[in-house]
Amino acid sequence: MELSEAIFPKPNGCWLKLSQARIMMIHKMKIGFIFILTYMCFLTPVHQAQLPDATLSDLSFKNMDFAMNLYRKISSYHDKNIFFSPLSISTSFAALLMASDGVTHEELLKCLNLEQLERANQPELIPKLFQLLHENITQNGTLKLDEGMALFVQRQFEVEQKFENQIKMFFDADIKTVDFADKKGSVRLINEYIKQKTEDKVTGMVSDLDPLTQLMLINTIFFQGAWQMPFDANFTQSAPFYIDNYNVVQVPMMFKEDKFHIMEDISLGAKVLKLPYQEGVSMLILLPNKGMDYTVIDDEISAEKFLSWVRKLQKTKLEVNLPKFKMEQSYSLQNLLPEMGMASIFSNSANLTRLSKNARIQVSEVLHKAVIEVDETGTTAAAATTIGITPYSLPRTFIINRPFFFFIYHEDTNCLLFMGRVIDPTKN
Ligand SMILES: *[C@@H]1O[C@H](CO)[C@@H](O)[C@H](O)[C@H]1NC(C)=O
Ligand SMILES: *[C@@H]1O[C@H](CO)[C@@H](O)[C@H](O)[C@H]1NC(C)=O
Ligand SMILES: *[C@@H]1O[C@H](CO)[C@@H](O)[C@H](O)[C@H]1NC(C)=O
Ligand SMILES: *[C@@H]1O[C@H](CO)[C@@H](O)[C@H](O)[C@H]1NC(C)=O
Repeated sequence: MELSEAIFPKPNGCWLKLSQARIMMIHKMKIGFIFILTYMCFLTPVHQAQLPDATLSDLSFKNMDFAMNLYRKISSYHDKNIFFSPLSISTSFAALLMASDGVTHEELLKCLNLEQLERANQPELIPKLFQLLHENITQNGTLKLDEGMALFVQRQFEVEQKFENQIKMFFDADIKTVDFADKKGSVRLINEYIKQKTEDKVTGMVSDLDPLTQLMLINTIFFQGAWQMPFDANFTQSAPFYIDNYNVVQVPMMFKEDKFHIMEDISLGAKVLKLPYQEGVSMLILLPNKGMDYTVIDDEISAEKFLSWVRKLQKTKLEVNLPKFKMEQSYSLQNLLPEMGMASIFSNSANLTRLSKNARIQVSEVLHKAVIEVDETGTTAAAATTIGITPYSLPRTFIINRPFFFFIYHEDTNCLLFMGRVIDPTKN
């Protein structure tokens, strides 16, 4: 495959829409990855503003635990593939944190696992931390991770000046007025905005709008990563993937022999492999041992476990087999979050008075949509390999031919950008 063919980013975006009378809210997002072969580079550490008593690592840790809880909630509904962006969801709700008050605010904090970062004397600490996290992750200009937030507001709708200032300051949000009653016009305006934000890669994201909409919050996140050690497409061949004892599918299996970081979590019954992208982002793959029920792992994963895997990784020479896969997942979070304690924001007792004093609003819908595509992309790099000392206990092969979990994270901050589970790689 031509490299140039492969370098077209897939979009992603998510939006929140709030409306007054029949209150409604949509949060939608689309994400895509193309993995491109290039040289190896890392984030260079740059000094940053000191925070008195909470760090970016604390925030990442708490966001990760929220993500794992949300993951468990989703997996309790089905046994299928799962994929979402914890960073995007946390960031969207962090903005709503500034909009909410009273019980709604308390519930948001608790559900997002941010209670301990709330300081009565520093009401802006949490948004400030999100801002610093975003700056830290995107510090290196060569990393292709674009986050954007925009508020589209109905002309007559009064947004509190303080909220408007905060969302501009901490989330660098664009604020635009539209006339939602003019459905066609506002759909065009919003799509145009998303198209421009995603460098023309996302078009026609919004197709319908409730004319009663008063406000729409759109959050987009787009990541494009290239493997540090790309797979050679010439070695990709069809191989079996064992979904369970009874179901086997044929998948395009990629192959790579090189030095990789791996570890084994013996008590969990799973092995971990790190596949680095350039610029300090990695994919961590968690592969349950043969015969191990992945639903047992569902119950065990946590931010604490994740960090222990990362700490114990060891470099070893390895043959890796990873299926190519592509999937698109959508979640209606308004059905899941109340079960996680975030209920009032979706009811008529929602307290969003910091967003608008003179309008009773509630969130009606939060739609999260994510798309991922993993392949070899780029076939020309011949990675130089020097053979290191391989500890006996570590395996020589890492064959991902059964259901697995994956986590895409920023290494400096351990911020979880995306997470997912692949049960059947042939199902989109
Ligand atoms: C980003 O990383 C590359 C490779 O490590 C480095 O050459 C470059 O200077 C970095 N850029 C910034 C803005 O830190
Ligand atoms: C990002 O945050 C990490 C963890 O707090 C820190 O070690 C690193 O120096 C920061 N990097 C930048 C570029 O600010
Ligand atoms: C929102 O919460 C604040 C603080 O608890 C309270 O003073 C206010 O009355 C609440 N407003 C609504 C509409 O619930
Ligand atoms: C892959 O195969 C093609 C066609 O046989 C060949 O031209 C190319 O050099 C091969 N690529 C690598 C990296 O070996």
